[in-house]
This record gives sequence, C-alpha cells and structure tokens, in this order.
Amino acid sequence: MNHLAAYKPDSVYCEDARPGLKEILDGSVQLILTDVPYGQGYVSNRGKNGPTDPIEGDLTFDQALGLWVDLLPEFYRVLAPWGVLITTAPFGNGALLNQTNCFSLAMAEAGFARPHDYAVDYVWDKGHWTTGDLKMGPMRQAEIVLVATKGERSYAWHAEKRAGNVLRYTRPMGKDAGLHPSQKPVQLGEDLIEWYSQPGDLVLDPMCGSGSFLVAAQTMGRSYLGMDISKRNVVISLGRLTGTLPEVLADMDSEQVDEDRQGVLV
Ligand SMILES: C[S@@+](CC[C@H](N)C(=O)[O-])C[C@H]1O[C@@H](n2cnc3c(N)ncnc32)[C@H](O)[C@@H]1O
Repeated sequence: MNHLAAYKPDSVYCEDARPGLKEILDGSVQLILTDVPYGQGYVSNRGKNGPTDPIEGDLTFDQALGLWVDLLPEFYRVLAPWGVLITTAPFGNGALLNQTNCFSLAMAEAGFARPHDYAVDYVWDKGHWTTGDLKMGPMRQAEIVLVATKGERSYAWHAEKRAGNVLRYTRPMGKDAGLHPSQKPVQLGEDLIEWYSQPGDLVLDPMCGSGSFLVAAQTMGRSYLGMDISKRNVVISLGRLTGTLPEVLADMDSEQVDEDRQGVLV
C-alpha cells in the first residue's frame, strides 16, 4: 500500500513544502530529517564583483521561522506514532543561539516532545568554518542538530553503540562540494538515520536542497521522499540518487538555471 497519497516513495518533487506536505497521509513517515533555511540572509562580501547575491532559499530570519512554524503541525501529523523530527539549525554568537532557541521552542509548541533524556540535541563540528567574512565575531564552525519525537517515546536510538553529542563531520569541500550553498555531509545524515530509524522506514526531507539526506537514506536502506521549491535542487538531487550527477551537471544550461532561480522564495 502506498501511504504517501500523491507521491511515489523514493522520489523527489519540486514543491513548496507547505501545500506539498498536505498530500501526505497521516502517520506515514517514520523520520523527518531536514535542514530548514536558517534565515541568515547571508551575503558574502568576497564576491569578485562586490557582495554576492543572498543564498537562494535562505530567507530572512522571520521568513525562515515562519516557514518552520507553518510546517510543524504537518510534520506532527504525517509522522507515525513515536516518529522523530530532526533538523540542523544555526549556532554561533549570542543572537544566533537565541534564534536556534526560537526554532526549538516552536517544536515544543507544536506538540513535539523534547525531554533531555532521549531527545538530545547535538553540536555538529564542521571541521572548518563557514560564513567567515561576516563582521560579527568568531567564525562559525559549529551548528546545532535539533531532535524531537512525536509522543513520549522511551528511547529513540537504534544504534548498537551510543555516540557523544558532539558530531564531527567535515563539511563538503573540494570536489564533494558546490552542489548547494548549505550542502550537508552525507555521513551526518547516515548516522542520524541509523540512530533514529530502522531499515525500510520512510525518511522525509521536504527541503532537501541537493539531496544529501536523501542520498544518506538510500545508502542506509530506507525509503525516502524529497521536496524542494527549487527545480534546480530537485534535478541535482535526482542526479545524485540515480548516479547520473555528472551528466545532469553537464546538461544544465546556465540560463535555465538562472531562470529556475527567478522568483524562488524571497
Ligand atoms: C538549508 S537548504 C538544504 C540543503 C541540503 N541539506 C543539502 O545538503 O543540499 C534548505 C532548502 O530549503 C528549500 N526551501 C526553502 N523554502 C522551501 C519551501 N517552502 N518548500 C520547499 N523547499 C524550500 C531551499 O530551496 C533550500 O534548498
């Protein structure tokens, strides 16, 4: 039986997650593993011709939090009983930590359980800083991974061996990078998927970017469903998932890519 209503499992769709999630049946997803836009509105001052354009889809903080608040009731609905919601979140100086807390509090308000004994949060040490030319103090080398469960589950851990709450995966660099400005390491996704789901479960990433967490789900023997509002991101995700990325990148017409970016999100 297909529990996904309008969607086929093991697929990626170009959708705004707000209406898109409404097409998924209640209780049909075991793990939502995503990477919500952080709302930093990041603009690099190091562009060759002056400041770069803001990162596509990064939004302002209010827009990003608004998107998160809108999506949370749908996340709760589509998750199976005892399902798990995980998102990466920004972490840096005081203001950013307060922002992370807004995302976290919204999860609790939507009914997710976040008791410390099983829904522990992680610090992800990226091994290298990013967004380092912002004029706001130390360069950012860490992000938070927020974990919450639907219901008062006793334990959400399926790995044989427990890990510490500091995760260390170098962010994609060199030839592994460049598919998305917020591209996450596949290994980060693989470990979270191993710990918080079981083989055959359905992993949903409704803001999948270049599809790093979908690739992780595929590798870990889970079913997956991805969405992204940008067609370009969906095409790249599909390329990675089907092993055709070099051809997909070679085929990408830069004018078409620019056109796809028009009107996206902001
Ligand atoms: C932080 S990025 C994800 C990066 C991804 N984890 C990767 O490794 O490439 C967030 C993504 O959310 C997408 N997005 C923003 N608003 C959206 C919406 N309303 N519906 C679906 N996707 C959205 C953006 O296009 C962007 O690709």
